[in-house]
Amino acid sequence: PNPAFSTRICPYGREALREAALLIRAGEPVAVPTETVYGLAADATDSSAVAAIYSAKGRPSFNPLIVHVADKEMAEQLAVFSPVAEKLAARFWPGALTMVLPVRDTSGLSPLVMAGLPTVALRLPAHPAMRALIRESGRPLAAPSANRSGAISPTRAEHVLASLNGKVRLILDEGPTSEGLESTIVAPEADRIRLLRPGPVTAQMLEQATGLAVVTSGDEKIEAPGQLESHYAPSKPVRLNALKAEKDEYLIGFGLMPCNINLSPDADVQEAAANLFAALHIADASAATQIAVAPIPDAGIGIAINDRLQRAAA
Ligand code: TXA
Ligand code: MG
Repeated sequence: PNPAFSTRICPYGREALREAALLIRAGEPVAVPTETVYGLAADATDSSAVAAIYSAKGRPSFNPLIVHVADKEMAEQLAVFSPVAEKLAARFWPGALTMVLPVRDTSGLSPLVMAGLPTVALRLPAHPAMRALIRESGRPLAAPSANRSGAISPTRAEHVLASLNGKVRLILDEGPTSEGLESTIVAPEADRIRLLRPGPVTAQMLEQATGLAVVTSGDEKIEAPGQLESHYAPSKPVRLNALKAEKDEYLIGFGLMPCNINLSPDADVQEAAANLFAALHIADASAATQIAVAPIPDAGIGIAINDRLQRAAA
């Protein structure tokens, strides 16, 4: 067994970036911010580095990882882009959209990344820290959210530390993430787009950009295996659509209402998305024995918020 080591949080900057890239090239995972959540990144072409991600997270190895690239060229070396995929990349990259595409035989990716699937999930993130780390290390980076499998996703460096202390050497800290929810995952087809995980890029935005129907229904969800589990889960029971706190409950509010913490007093769903996971972390650490969450409008990014909340309550 590896000797225990301590986890360091370093402010994002030239020096920290250099050190992070050295760790990546040595096959070590590093925690790094993206605009959605903090990721636990490792060299996607190195099977032992990828295995280290699964083991740090306690993640089942049948659940494939998202591969992050710094530019479209790098993406094209890894996967085949259909005309619909091209259109989506042009409109939403860099950003919070992940596309599941046929992987190339010549990709060089570790088969562990795809967990046996003939497809790879690709994302070109907007966050400068993640992009700089990909460039500096010269590798595509596999990166799931930087938390123990099934737990609440990290939107701040402290969340990563609380979940993965002693499991990762370095956390690059660049403050709270702007989107606050994981990327939207789609599988583009010739005449429709399958939505595998709702996120910041909404179904309406996808429809508008392509003129294609966006479908979410049915057992096709099995293609994003992470979506099947209870996920994003605090250690306490979660009650949804709560209008007031019962005894021993910590109430996460939305809009003007008495509560312990408010996702957005102005009832702005975008702001609520950015604050959601931090609020769940705080509620989980509170003295209350249960967590209650106010109703969130089921429109726009509210759909992704409700998707995460349902899994948190499952
Ligand atoms: O915002 C995000 O997407 C963050 C940041 C770090 O980029 N990453 C993230 O990764 O949320 P993760 O591992 O927590 O979620 C990856 C999801 C899982 O639900 C997985 O099942 C799905 O992507 N996935 C990965 N490869 C896939 C594939 N080839 N086909 C279908 N689903 C796939
Ligand atoms: Mg996750």
